[in-house]
Amino acid sequence: MKEIFENNKKWAKAVIDEDPNFFKRLVLQHAPKYLWIGCSDSRVPANQIVGLPPGDIFVHRNIANVIVHTDLNALSVIEYAVEVLEVEHIIVSGHYGCGGVKAAMGTKEYGLIDNWLRHIKDVQRFHKDTLCKIQDEEAYFDRLCELNVQEQVSNVLNTTTVKNAMKAGKKLAVHGMIYNINDGILKDLKITE
Ligand code: CO
Repeated sequence: MKEIFENNKKWAKAVIDEDPNFFKRLVLQHAPKYLWIGCSDSRVPANQIVGLPPGDIFVHRNIANVIVHTDLNALSVIEYAVEVLEVEHIIVSGHYGCGGVKAAMGTKEYGLIDNWLRHIKDVQRFHKDTLCKIQDEEAYFDRLCELNVQEQVSNVLNTTTVKNAMKAGKKLAVHGMIYNINDGILKDLKITE
């Protein structure tokens, strides 16, 4: 644990050296423009991969970036982001090589998480006509990662919070993106609504 605190002190000092008022400013206002919904995977840190500092992105992460209609945690994050912080963009970002998506493709049992991964098995079922045409396992895996993002974008759009915000004409867009852990590039899936 030593490295955690040492790194933190170094980081805080470096931030202040560069911008002495950085923390003072952030204490006074929390006004991120973006809500990021992504995977918990340690290789996909929201702020870092889009090069934004603390204060710029409100973040919700869970295994395989799944938005479940009854998940009070995710729904609360979305409501707070849209109604209180008034974010203008919700980014649902998946990533290629997602362990959660991979696990959902197989039959191995992992325990509690199998219940969570059922949601991705559902994505497979919804898109079985597309997926069954893909012979190559890697290509299937990549496509399922993308389709999972697409479904989660749709789930975000169907939350009462987002529906009401859209109805009220609020400035809000929901985007689907996918991050490539092989080269660090974030791709827009062009399913923005
Ligand atoms: Co993942």
